[in-house]
Amino acid sequence: MKDNKYVYNNLKIFIMEDYEAMSEKAASMVAAQMTLKNDSVLGLATGSTPEGMYRRLVQRYQQHQIDFHEIISFNLDEYYPILPENKESYAYYMEKNLFQFVNIARQNIHIPSGSHQNIDETCKAYDQAIAKAGNIDLQILGIGNNGHIGFNEPDIKFEAGTHLVELDEATILANSRFFESVEDVPKKAISMGIRNIMHSKKIVLMASGIAKAAVLKEMITGPVTPNLPASILQLHNDVTIILDEDAAKEIKAIL
Ligand code: F6R
Repeated sequence: MKDNKYVYNNLKIFIMEDYEAMSEKAASMVAAQMTLKNDSVLGLATGSTPEGMYRRLVQRYQQHQIDFHEIISFNLDEYYPILPENKESYAYYMEKNLFQFVNIARQNIHIPSGSHQNIDETCKAYDQAIAKAGNIDLQILGIGNNGHIGFNEPDIKFEAGTHLVELDEATILANSRFFESVEDVPKKAISMGIRNIMHSKKIVLMASGIAKAAVLKEMITGPVTPNLPASILQLHNDVTIILDEDAAKEIKAIL
């Protein structure tokens, strides 16, 4: 498999041939983390980008290469309001793509609740649970076309912990592909904050496809600004960005 490694603004960048190679690279990093530390705390993302990575993690589990029984997981976000049995919820996504296939202990799975009445309590408890687990060892991220990570939309407060978010029009539109109509997309979500993400020991951000090329160039080479939340990752000391050739189209000439 061909891969090209670069470092820019403190960020390690791998440009992989295609989506499958990107997924394989990310899966191998997660597998390495799990092998080095059986009780790793994994921060997990949803969306289209990590689906291939989850498929590969399931395969590795089935081949007895990795074991989830001591793994602790924290998902980045969940729509609000939504019930976990709703097929568009991130709780449902995680079951469908990973949890139903592996031996993760149910009590070790954490996903922000999309249905608790008391949002402040939910957010506070989530932050406390992450802190109690000793913070996240390896955080997986995707990136929105508007530069969001988790659901930290542009103009975020970098110091925020888990909180209720008003989703951007751009995010609602982008995510409407999963719903019957754009009106069905929840307008809010509960998301880990940038503070939670930045406290992770390692971060792996994945991106695929030409639609992400412009925002990645800005995130990697532009200023650190709340207008592009992912730009804060330039200030973290262990970030790996795994791109396919299409997502790397605009950045490649600069590296
Ligand atoms: C998902 C999440 C989002 C997505 C981003 C990209 O848990 O937090 O930040 O990673 O919206 O989504 P996809 O991968 O569908 O392009």
